[in-house]
Amino acid sequence: MNEDLESVVLSEEQIAKKVSEAAAWLDKRFENVATPPLTIGVLKGSVFFLCDVVRAMRTPVQLDFMTVSSYGNSSKSSGKPKIVMDLAAPVQNRDVILIEDIVDSGHTLVEMKNLILGRGAKSFTVVTLFNKPARRKLPVQADFSCFEIGDDFIVGYGLDYAQQYRNLPYVGILKREIYEKKS
Ligand code: IMP
Ligand code: MG
Repeated sequence: MNEDLESVVLSEEQIAKKVSEAAAWLDKRFENVATPPLTIGVLKGSVFFLCDVVRAMRTPVQLDFMTVSSYGNSSKSSGKPKIVMDLAAPVQNRDVILIEDIVDSGHTLVEMKNLILGRGAKSFTVVTLFNKPARRKLPVQADFSCFEIGDDFIVGYGLDYAQQYRNLPYVGILKREIYEKKS
């Protein structure tokens, strides 16, 4: 285990199991659609999860990405997320699948939902790896959530603290001393 972590909350094996379940759920939901759904990954946190989920799906999908920034270098959300990089293609009349790493306050999800439905998407489905219901500020939820966690700050498998720890293959709780001394 990485020495900045307090404990591991999800092993590679646990992640792989949930990835298959999320893919199976999406396959069922989109089994009869004529046009391939468009999966949208919110960079950078959801990138490994998105890649694993779409490769476990049998339904053909297309991919697009967007960068939204809410944290800067702190462990607390700054409220309103900013679009740093927009989607490459229009979403009008598309079935959109948003793949998220964590739904925390809900600000990012609300912003993405308004934006995508506002641009005329046919449907909007959200799959998230983690859900932190206790921290929710806005009344939104994912359609499929892999794991619920409390108020711990976690890193790994895409999740970062100040851009670090994303490439850990597992997810763990970051020691408080790491972020409290800097923020
Ligand atoms: P929200 O807009 O507050 O729901 O924040 C969502 C974003 O905050 C996620 O996509 C993550 O990038 C980030 N985030 C929230 N909680 C954590 C955490 O425990 N570790 C790392 N990033 C987090
Ligand atoms: Mg993030």
